[in-house]
Amino acid sequence: MEVNRRQFLTYLGAGTAALASLATGIPALAKGETISGKTADHLFGLDTTPKKFNPKFSPIQPSTKDDVILPDGYRYDVVAVYGDKINSAGDTFGFNADFNCFLPIDGNPNHGLLWTNHEYLGELEYYVTGYDVLNAAEENKRTPEQIEKYLYALGGSVIEIKKENGKWKLVSDSKYGRRVSGLTKHELTGPAKSIAKEVIGTFANCSGGVTMWNTILSCEENYMDVVEDCKLQEANHYGWVIEVDPFDPKSTPKKHTALGRFSHENTAMVIASTGQLVVYMGDDANDQYVYKYVSNGKYDPSAGKANSKLLEEGTLYVANFSKGKWVALDLAKNEALQKAVDADKKPLFQTQADVLVNCREAAKAAGATAMDRPEDVEVHPIDGSIFISMTNNSKHGNFYGQIVRMFESNDNHAGTDFTFEIFATGGPQSGFAAPDNMAFDSAGNLWVVTDISSSSMNTGIYKSFGNNGVFFVPTSGSNKGQVEQFASAPVGAEMTGPWFTPDETTLFLSVQHPGENLQAYDKPTSHWPKGGSSVALPGVIAVTGF
Ligand code: FEO
Ligand code: CA
Ligand code: CA
Ligand code: CA
Repeated sequence: MEVNRRQFLTYLGAGTAALASLATGIPALAKGETISGKTADHLFGLDTTPKKFNPKFSPIQPSTKDDVILPDGYRYDVVAVYGDKINSAGDTFGFNADFNCFLPIDGNPNHGLLWTNHEYLGELEYYVTGYDVLNAAEENKRTPEQIEKYLYALGGSVIEIKKENGKWKLVSDSKYGRRVSGLTKHELTGPAKSIAKEVIGTFANCSGGVTMWNTILSCEENYMDVVEDCKLQEANHYGWVIEVDPFDPKSTPKKHTALGRFSHENTAMVIASTGQLVVYMGDDANDQYVYKYVSNGKYDPSAGKANSKLLEEGTLYVANFSKGKWVALDLAKNEALQKAVDADKKPLFQTQADVLVNCREAAKAAGATAMDRPEDVEVHPIDGSIFISMTNNSKHGNFYGQIVRMFESNDNHAGTDFTFEIFATGGPQSGFAAPDNMAFDSAGNLWVVTDISSSSMNTGIYKSFGNNGVFFVPTSGSNKGQVEQFASAPVGAEMTGPWFTPDETTLFLSVQHPGENLQAYDKPTSHWPKGGSSVALPGVIAVTGF
């Protein structure tokens, strides 16, 4: 481990835990605990000691090819694509794969459950429901049958996968295989649970995270598009973080209202030095905010899945970057929220549920700093600093984005003060643009995927970047902050959901929306992964060769 000691101490202060962490390379956490960015393998008896992961590869050049391009010595298996059968009941893998999380079965890094998000359909909806988005009239003419297909294609999938003879494969009749979709019943928890007795469906599931107790958190992002397309009435039922237990196919997914309602990108969970659970979150839109949730109670490793209760009672904070302060969105204590009024001078927030349902308005009233599309947030596995992708913000002339690195004062993730730096900036000088999802390896290197929109890709100011890609960025040592390209996506696609197996021999990635931005449905621009004249299929790949 090569943390820059001077910078590390400057930002974190010389706390005992921080010093111990520097000396040993062990994260400043209690033994046996893992933090987000690594697979939650602690319940499965695997060694969680940080390894000297030192991936060697010759960086690739930007590419416009219609394939997943990898460095020499690396290869990929297609694990699952849209429409693949995932259980004996005949459920099928959803569309536009996004976030992935691999959970080993009995600690086996070559056999486990993969959770994958299915985010949206967009113009590729035609290939799912038959509705012609490119030539659609103003009026929404989707039939009930088309809407049902639409909602089923979104949400998430649990699939069972295995590596046999060096090749990853889907188990198509798994007892774990499960769809959680736009048609699945959910329970609400937390201060805003009274807004509905039950909620049907999850969709717009962008990225997510894993919990310490091996469940999945999946984030509802641009839910408003789906609400409109599917003629749904209750927009307040969406825009939450959901929790799913992949190991219990009969469990009812929960929507945790204490984590607020906005266009959630992902979650990054960590245990603070106080023992409280902290969840960092971004709201992916121009001029939106960075949040963190701090539980009232403390994490109890022996309580297992009962720790989920920690996501029901706590404080939601929003970041003020100009002051380096986390501001509590707590109506009982926050005067700005109490005094906030609408155009008719009526109070904006009567209850804490109002604050949580209308988080964006609350954050604005509380003086939060408007950011440049905060997408993925991840916690550094060695020093606990927080990395935040700011994808871009055309309203500010920020077209290439940047990655912010935040340092909580006194190494306390539950605290209210922080400092920050700009860790890396997008642009032709660094070779990447529009950073989105991130993953850390156990040595603290950052793996970043990019999200140049399919309509901008390979044109104008984005031409030099080629297709979207995957980038490797050391966070310490002499190459700190220097970006190298590891992979390039097929035409029109974006690589999403990077996730390593616990032994770091496989990197899962989604290939999302290949063939997007096409002119006519009978002239697909991507034929990934089947080639020929086939229509492209979004899905998940397993990259090996590390
Ligand atoms: Fe769904 Fe923020 O990308
Ligand atoms: Ca995303
Ligand atoms: Ca994105
Ligand atoms: Ca995107």
